[in-house]
Amino acid sequence: MKIYTLEDGCDFDSLQPSVRPDPEPGPREVLLRLRAVSLNYRDLAILRGTYGNFPRPLVPVSDGVGEVVAVGAEVRRFKVGDRVVPAYVPDWVRGGPTAETSRRRLGGPLDGLLREYACVHEDAAIAAPAHLTDAEAATLPIAGVTAWHALFTQGRVGPGDTVVVQGTGGVSLYALQLARLAGARVIVTSRSGDKLARAVALGAAHGIHTREHPDWAARVLLLTGGRGADHVLDVVGGEGVERSIEATRVGGTVSLVGFLESMTVRFDLRRALQKVVRLQAISTGSRDDLESLGRALAEYGARPVVDRIFPFNEARAAFEYLSSGAQFGKVVIALP
Ligand SMILES: NC(=O)c1ccc[n+]([C@@H]2O[C@H](COP(=O)([O-])OP(=O)(O)OC[C@H]3O[C@@H](n4cnc5c(N)ncnc54)[C@H](OP(=O)(O)O)[C@@H]3O)[C@@H](O)[C@H]2O)c1
Repeated sequence: MKIYTLEDGCDFDSLQPSVRPDPEPGPREVLLRLRAVSLNYRDLAILRGTYGNFPRPLVPVSDGVGEVVAVGAEVRRFKVGDRVVPAYVPDWVRGGPTAETSRRRLGGPLDGLLREYACVHEDAAIAAPAHLTDAEAATLPIAGVTAWHALFTQGRVGPGDTVVVQGTGGVSLYALQLARLAGARVIVTSRSGDKLARAVALGAAHGIHTREHPDWAARVLLLTGGRGADHVLDVVGGEGVERSIEATRVGGTVSLVGFLESMTVRFDLRRALQKVVRLQAISTGSRDDLESLGRALAEYGARPVVDRIFPFNEARAAFEYLSSGAQFGKVVIALP
């Protein structure tokens, strides 16, 4: 089968096409012919060597969807022909994470899905929502599950709440759409006016241009009558977390999701204490979260936002495009 691997190095040259023997499913595994995979910022950070430091060669990319082409003798959950989405954290089926269940992850340290075939344990996958295209279904496991877990499993966001999402990448647009489905009001921040207009068209009540309003927390307070947001989904990290706390209401929640600016976070503890803000670290979610997400999207006919689809032989261009920051939503690679 054709695959890509990350070889030594921390630039785009480290992503190399290669071949490996086709895998064979174990008794409780399904063999998937991959149809589409989607990129996450994590894939870029692993390629650059700034995250994980996993042994190489490594098959990159955590998220995808495939068709079952063979099943092991004991498989009960799926049959040949089913369209299946593997869970990014295969051992985390339900409940909270544990040291044992959160260690193995697709795309590092485990080999990922940027390849023609992959074997997946039947318990570590869900049936793809039927209404989604392959490209859309491929975006569920990290971006979708992270937004779901932050907003609902941990955050208990509901009707009438105000949710702030930062930027217009994969996690944030999922959070925008899911928060709207739950009846919440959404405020989006972005460094681009065009992207803000598109976010408002998707259902955001307000957009804040962070280059025009670097103190975006003050705008959130203005837009919430001084109260602050119930939930801020922070994907930027770094010193910006201070602003996320400032933008949150007393007793509200900041989900610590991303590190686009920095892994090192600084904030004034006094403000967090005065506001009794709940700082909740998020590390994607369980297979249960993935299943709930799929059911919710199906119930409302909702579709994740796919920005661009690259062919398999242009995987490098897809990584370069994600790195440019030009995307609005998800970047996908389609397999032949
Ligand atoms: N903890 C978890 O479980 C988890 C899961 C998924 C992702 N993450 C992390 O969350 C972050 C976002 O991931 P993603 O996959 O959604 O990324 P993405 O699709 O690449 O989107 C990132 C978006 O954020 C905005 N942005 C980029 N750099 C920024 C900066 N320095 N300051 C402010 N905004 C910036 C941009 O939107 P605009 O152009 O609109 O400004 C960009 O399109 C990453 O750090 C990722 O590793 C964590």
